[in-house]
Amino acid sequence: MIQTKEIKKGIYALKTVGYLDLDFHGCIFRNDYGASYNAYLIVDEKITLIDVVDKQFSEAFILEIKKIIKDKPIDYIIINHVEPDHSGGFEAVKSIYPDAQCFCSSEAKKAMLQMFFNKHQYQLVSNLESINLGSRNYVFVLTPFIHWPDNMFTYLVEDKILFSNDAFGSLTNSNLFYDYQYDLSQLLNDAKEYYANIVMPCSSFVANKLEEVLALNLELDYIAPSHGIIWKNEIGTIINQYQKWANNGDVKNKVVIVYDTIWDNTQKIADVIAQAIGDNDLEVRILNASKHRKSLIMSEIMDARAIVVGSSNFNNTMTPSIADVLERIIALKPIDKLGVAFGSFGWVDVHLNRIESRLQEANVKIITHSFYENYTPDAKALDLAYELGQLIANKVNEVITNE
Ligand code: FEO
Repeated sequence: MIQTKEIKKGIYALKTVGYLDLDFHGCIFRNDYGASYNAYLIVDEKITLIDVVDKQFSEAFILEIKKIIKDKPIDYIIINHVEPDHSGGFEAVKSIYPDAQCFCSSEAKKAMLQMFFNKHQYQLVSNLESINLGSRNYVFVLTPFIHWPDNMFTYLVEDKILFSNDAFGSLTNSNLFYDYQYDLSQLLNDAKEYYANIVMPCSSFVANKLEEVLALNLELDYIAPSHGIIWKNEIGTIINQYQKWANNGDVKNKVVIVYDTIWDNTQKIADVIAQAIGDNDLEVRILNASKHRKSLIMSEIMDARAIVVGSSNFNNTMTPSIADVLERIIALKPIDKLGVAFGSFGWVDVHLNRIESRLQEANVKIITHSFYENYTPDAKALDLAYELGQLIANKVNEVITNE
């Protein structure tokens, strides 16, 4: 479904609601309500399209555009980002509007040529370059690595709208357009999960770019991302949250235990570690890597102080779901975490060193070497697990005290 709304005079948001797109950005992000892809059409003396849509929606997307502009042509296409969820429909649109002049960053041009092979003309724009198209002025803000090297924002001067593409996005997915139409805490949860799974590895770029953008003192009526809702009433809130997330400034006094278990032995240890942490007045989240969605696990890890990762031995390694979580931790680079590995095994204990080395690869500071138990943990083993939980809590509390 594509929902269209005129958000200001002559400015149309085209919101594609992919309710079956449960795997967002490929396999990265599982979302129960699918994903949305926003593009924007500006209609005045000239017609400008900002971003396109995932290829699977291009036919419907073009039909929606035609409903608005009838038989007029699109004069300009601004490519804020080349990732296929925004550019996949580009060739289809360009085939209908072959004379549309395209604007993008130099990195975007390289990528477009390598992705689609067609040698269209791309007019390159530089950081803070301003151009006039039709009766409006556009300013481009290059935002490399939020989320790919090519990304940029487009600011529409007269209408005070920042088209931010991936930044400030969420997977809040319905036909409603604006932040005030949703519960704010749910919106921020959605934006947090999106940040943790899409933006977090770029946090240093986000922190620097936010400072640069805020220094411009742009007047903002809307922040209009390419995913999820348009920020209108809560612009300050989402900017503030991005500043916190980018600087690890929203960290809670919380420990995340993520584990997988084959015959419940690792789960028994996880329970006892969690109890000890809880007994020390810290929040503890226990997540099963096979049962909870990975994007939720990453969201919980983002604002935790410590990650405790447990697995049963699976032949000569850890379970596949724990391997998946660890690769995500390496890829998504949560900032400044403590960590410990734990687990159980039958006849050979070979997996915990692997977990620990993966955590180290992700720059997690190891609190103590791995804790493991042979077959069913007995009372003594569970006492030791409790001691481990206390040690984790002590280390976390030390960090809190020293702040
Ligand atoms: Fe939604 Fe980086 O693309």
